[in-house]
Amino acid sequence: MSKEVEDHRIHNRSGNLPFAAIVERRLSRRSVMCGGLGLAAATMLGGFGWPGTSRAADGAARAPLSLGFASLAPRMTDAVVVPEGYVAQVLIPWGTPLVSGMAQWHPELDPTPGFQAASTGMHHDGMYHFALDASDRSDDFLLVLNHEYLDQSALWAARGGPTNAKQGARPLDEARTEINAHGVCVVRVRRDEQGHWAPVLDDPRNRRITTATPMLLAGPLRGSLHAVTAYSPQGTQARGTNNNCACGYTPWGTYLTCEENWPEIFINRAEQEPDQLRLGLAESRSIYGWETVEGGVDGEFERFDNTPRGDDPRADYRNEARTYGYVVEIDPYDPERAIYKRTALGRFRHEGCWPGKLVAGQPVVFYTGHDARNEYIYKFVSRAPWDPSDANRPGEHYDRQAIGAKYMDHGTLYVARFDEDGSGEWLPLAEDTPVPGQGRTLGEIYGDLARIIVNTCDAADLLGATPMDRPEWGTVDPSSGEVYMSLTNNSKRTEADSAASFTQEGESIGTPGVGYATAPVNAANPRPDNDHGQVIRWLERDGEPERFDWEIFVFGAAPGETADNRSGLDDANAFASPDGLWYDQRGEGEGILWIQTDNGIDKGRDNAVAEMVNDQVLAIVPGALSRREGAASVVDPSNQAELKRFAIVPNQAEVTGIFATPDRTALFINVQHPGNWPAYDSDDATLAPSAQVRPRSSTVVIQRRDGGRIGEA
Ligand code: FEO
Ligand code: CA
Ligand code: CA
Repeated sequence: MSKEVEDHRIHNRSGNLPFAAIVERRLSRRSVMCGGLGLAAATMLGGFGWPGTSRAADGAARAPLSLGFASLAPRMTDAVVVPEGYVAQVLIPWGTPLVSGMAQWHPELDPTPGFQAASTGMHHDGMYHFALDASDRSDDFLLVLNHEYLDQSALWAARGGPTNAKQGARPLDEARTEINAHGVCVVRVRRDEQGHWAPVLDDPRNRRITTATPMLLAGPLRGSLHAVTAYSPQGTQARGTNNNCACGYTPWGTYLTCEENWPEIFINRAEQEPDQLRLGLAESRSIYGWETVEGGVDGEFERFDNTPRGDDPRADYRNEARTYGYVVEIDPYDPERAIYKRTALGRFRHEGCWPGKLVAGQPVVFYTGHDARNEYIYKFVSRAPWDPSDANRPGEHYDRQAIGAKYMDHGTLYVARFDEDGSGEWLPLAEDTPVPGQGRTLGEIYGDLARIIVNTCDAADLLGATPMDRPEWGTVDPSSGEVYMSLTNNSKRTEADSAASFTQEGESIGTPGVGYATAPVNAANPRPDNDHGQVIRWLERDGEPERFDWEIFVFGAAPGETADNRSGLDDANAFASPDGLWYDQRGEGEGILWIQTDNGIDKGRDNAVAEMVNDQVLAIVPGALSRREGAASVVDPSNQAELKRFAIVPNQAEVTGIFATPDRTALFINVQHPGNWPAYDSDDATLAPSAQVRPRSSTVVIQRRDGGRIGEA
C-alpha cells in the first residue's frame, strides 16, 4: 500500500535480542575464506546443504522449465508494460457494477453507498480463482479479490475531495460509501473466443463483502469476554472486514482474506490496553474519521470508538477492535453461508495466509505473517489430519465452512525463530508452553487461549521470536513444500553492534504492549536500514514438526557492484520491496516463482530502484537453479540472469495479487493506486492516457497474442 496511508510504525514494541554479532562473525569468516564479499555472499546463500532439494523423482531426467521472454528494460510510464508478444487488458476497475441496470462509472461519478455496495471496491489486492464445476475451465470462473483501502481523492473527485477528512464530523453517506469501498468482491468472469475478458453481470454468486457485512467469530475468541460488544453480547458476532490485503485459499474450496492495517480505523481515547498499544489504535481520530459520523443504525459508526463508556462491555464497543485482526474464511460459492473469522490463526496485522504442502493423514498447515517492521512469521497446524475426501467439489452445494471449522478452529499456532546456523524453530503459542526465564506458562500468564490470541504479538515476544523485515506474501511449492516469504524492507533495522530499542518507551520486549522500535541485524534479516528487502525460503524438517531449515533466496538491490547487491542484480532485474509472491506450478516439481514489488516513488519509497523503474512483476524458475550440479540453488552473481522482469506497472502504482488460469494462458495481476491510469476510452492496459484521468485500481489480465502459456517459450 502507498506511504500515504500505510502505517508500518513499529507496532512490534518487543527485546528478543537478534543474532547480530554472530551473523557478523559468520559473514566475516566466510569473507576471509572466500576472498571477497560477492563470493562470500554467494557461498553463504548456496551452501546450506539444503535437505530435501532433490525435486520430483523425474526432475533430473526432464529438461528444466525455462522462461521464454526477454527481461524488460526499466520503464517509468503511465501504462502497463509487458514483453513482446503479450497483451494486457484492464478488467473490473474500481466502480464496475456487478449487476445490470446500474449507472456505469464515469469520470464525474459521485458514488453513493448503494452504488459502491454493488460494484467493485477500491484498491484491488490479493485474489484467487474458483472453478465453477469439476471441468475447472480457464475461461469462466469466480474471481474473488480484496479491496484493501481507499484513495479518498479519487473516490470523492466529483465533489473536490472528502468532507471533513481531518476534523469535524464526517457525513453519513460518505462514511457508508467508504465502508462499502473496502472488503472483498466475488464476481464471475468469462473470456470470449477473441480472448477478451468481461464480468458476468447478475451471476447469483456476484457480491460485495464490506467493512459492514455481518460475520461470525470462530475459534478461541468465539464467545469469549474479549469479544463482547453492544452488537454481540454473547461475543460471537462481528461486523465487517477491513484492510484486506493479501489472501489465501483452502483445499476445501474457500477463500481466505486477511486483515492487515485495520487498527487505523479504530480509536480509544482512554488509557489503552496492551494489545491496543502493541497493534497501534489511534488515540483521538481514526484514519477516515468514521467514528465522528452522527446517526447510523445499531452503533454503525459508534463502534469505531473503542473508548469504554462504563463498567459493562455489553453497553459499548470497547472490544470492537478485538473482532478484527484475523484470517477470514469466505465460501465463494454460497452467498447465504456465514463468513467466519478464524481466530485460532492469531490476531495481528495479517498480510496473507497460505496453505503448506498437503499430505493425506497429516495436519493441514497455514503460513501467515505480520506486516510491520520487526514483527514475526507464524504457522498454524491443524489438529485434524487431512482427509482427501474434504477436497473441494467445485460447483456443488454443501457446508464448506464446517470443513473450515474442522481444520482452522482447532490446532496450534506457532511463531518462528530463525537461528544463525540456518535452522529454525517453531515456538508454540499454546497454554502449556513454558515462557523462558519466567517459570510460568503462557496459560498461567494470560489465563486462557482467547487472551493469548488477543495478545498474539506480546505472547510471541515472550517466546523469543525473531523480528523480521516486514513479512509480506508467502507461497509454497506444493511438490517440495518449500515456503517462500517476502521481507519487504525495514528502515528500523540497525547495525550489528547496536542494541534493540522498544516502543512505548519500554525497556524490555517482555513488557506487555511493548514491541521492537528498532532491532539489530540478524541472520535472516542481515542488512541494516534495509531499503530493498529479500525473499526468504524455508523447508520443514521431516519428522521434526517444530524445526525447519532456511536460506535467503534473493536480495532486492539497486544494480552495481555494491556490498548491498548480494544477489548480483543488474538493470534487467533490479528490484526492491518484494511483496506479492506466487509459486506457479507447471508440473510435478516444476514451477515459476512470480515476485511482485511495492517499492513506489512519489508516494512510496524513495530509493535508487524507485528512481529507475516502476513497480514490477519478476519471474524465476527456482528448480532450474537447484538442478544445476554444483551451483547455488538461490539467486547469486553467477545465475541472476535467470531472474527476469516480466511486467512493469504504471507510475505511482504497486502491483499485488496474482494467479494464472489453470491452463496458464492468462496471468491475472492487480494494479493498485496508479497516479494516472487507466485510459478512459480503452481497456488496453498498455495504453497511457493522453491527459490526466481520475485513476482507478484495476485487475489486469496478461495474455499472449498466440494464446500460449504465460512465461514459457
Ligand atoms: Fe497491504 Fe503489507 O501490504
Ligand atoms: Ca511485549
Ligand atoms: Ca502487500
